[in-house]
Amino acid sequence: MNILFYDAKAYDKLSFENALSAFPEISVEFVASDLDSRTAALAEGFDAVCAFVSSDASAGALRILHKKGVRLLLLRCAGFNNVDLEEAKKLGIRVMRVPGYSPEAVAEHAMALALACNRRLCKAYNKVRENDFSLNGLMGFNFYEKKAGIIGTGKIGAAMARICHGFGMKVMAYDVYQNPSLEGIVTYVTLEELLSESDLISLHCPLTDDTYHLINLDTIKKMKDGCILVNTSRGALVKTADLIEGIRMRKFAGVGLDVYEEETNNVFEDRSDEILEHSTTARLLSFPNVIITSHQGFFTREALSSIAETTLQNAMDYLQGRASQNDV
Ligand code: NAI
Repeated sequence: MNILFYDAKAYDKLSFENALSAFPEISVEFVASDLDSRTAALAEGFDAVCAFVSSDASAGALRILHKKGVRLLLLRCAGFNNVDLEEAKKLGIRVMRVPGYSPEAVAEHAMALALACNRRLCKAYNKVRENDFSLNGLMGFNFYEKKAGIIGTGKIGAAMARICHGFGMKVMAYDVYQNPSLEGIVTYVTLEELLSESDLISLHCPLTDDTYHLINLDTIKKMKDGCILVNTSRGALVKTADLIEGIRMRKFAGVGLDVYEEETNNVFEDRSDEILEHSTTARLLSFPNVIITSHQGFFTREALSSIAETTLQNAMDYLQGRASQNDV
């Protein structure tokens, strides 16, 4: 089986080449371009393509892939909001993903962002490098005995809840389903209650029609003044223009984002002044209490090797005609 691997970075090649030795039936060719309706034609002669969160697997791209003979879309990520599933089904392209590779990797990064915001680590780092050892502007608050609000208690939210519990926080959660493994760790509350009481709010639900712009001016106004908001899930859970208004209203002690709405527009690839002037991400970066990382929550050694193994196992399940719980 022949797989075309889109948007390949050096670290992807390394982790997949390591894992490939256990899968002699599979060969992978790596290309730097990401999947979209222009690059889909590169898949001529391949049985499958491997794509990522940043890929554009909309109807147009899928139709071209199908024309080129591709019948399997291997997502090397958990989220699949960038895939037109209806079109894939219509075309008979099987879509498989890696639902959970290392929830702890993302949850630990969420806590890293929360701590960095709270304890002003970026500012502190810069000050000391400039030989300024004063503590002005660096005061934070204890997480111990404060309230954490986790929105979405699936694999990553549950890991984050356990981390917050370990910090001695009172952990509240909101989800459409309750996770029984969190009994004794988490108290489920309404979204309103969570927003109004939490000192730290961390988003771990998927992006769906129901959760699109879940954090907007309305919900921001319900939050406690001086809270910390962390989003490691998907950018469009937060309405960025409203977040900027909330920051201006001094609602937040800090905001930590690993994901942002403009992520798939490649705003920062074209650094023209005009684009940056209209970029909400660039505006967010102008606030000293905002920390943005570039979707690196998953980026640990353990997660990368687990992603490679599961993706190749998905390909084998397809090859051998097996149904899989990783089917989307
Ligand atoms: P999961 O499927 O295990 O958990 C999602 C939880 O959200 C479920 O418990 C579900 O019931 C809940 N949920 C669904 N709709 C909801 C709603 N309307 N309100 C509240 N809760 C709702 O997913 P997992 O593995 O925990 O991943 C969560 C998200 O994290 C993914 O959807 C993805 O967007 C993001 N992610 C980010 C990464 C990063 O590198 N920053 C890496 C991997 C995932």
